[in-house]
Amino acid sequence: MDRKEALDSVEANVENQNLIKHMLATEALMRSLASRLGEDEDKWALTGLLHDIDVELTEGDASAHSQLGADLARELGASEEMAHAILCHNEAHGIGAETKLDKGLICADPLTGLITASVLVLPDKKLASLKATSVGKRFKAKSFAAGADREQIARCSELGVELDEFIELAVKAMKEIAPSLGL
Ligand SMILES: [Fe+2]
Repeated sequence: MDRKEALDSVEANVENQNLIKHMLATEALMRSLASRLGEDEDKWALTGLLHDIDVELTEGDASAHSQLGADLARELGASEEMAHAILCHNEAHGIGAETKLDKGLICADPLTGLITASVLVLPDKKLASLKATSVGKRFKAKSFAAGADREQIARCSELGVELDEFIELAVKAMKEIAPSLGL
């Protein structure tokens, strides 16, 4: 599967630019996490890039979200392993995370949301000004960006990565693509 084809498909299926940015952020974090773990960086990155491709198509139907996404990913040439990670990242299906890739997506997805929310409350709203330690504090403030599931984020420990390191790695990965995120 080629990255350009994947991104073209994301852009064809998603209108909301913030949702596209969320997928770009998840792509960057998944690449960085794969690199940290010695896993296949392109495979992890593409899984992150595609994981919410069906959100608008499924119009908030939690039972359909990520089923369709997994199918669209397969059509683009994703492996079964990638399709499974996309499918099970929606916990509504009750399919447990099995592989490292499954777990990586489960913990990376909400962390990008927490980081974006942490940037948007900064005076200059710039990723460059964000410190990983302040994201760590936001993580503990449960009412802040409550949609970013802290339990899912904390599952980085199942991959042998402690929370502080995971947050640091994520902030760095997102800073590297800050212009594409508009942050
Ligand atoms: Fe997501």
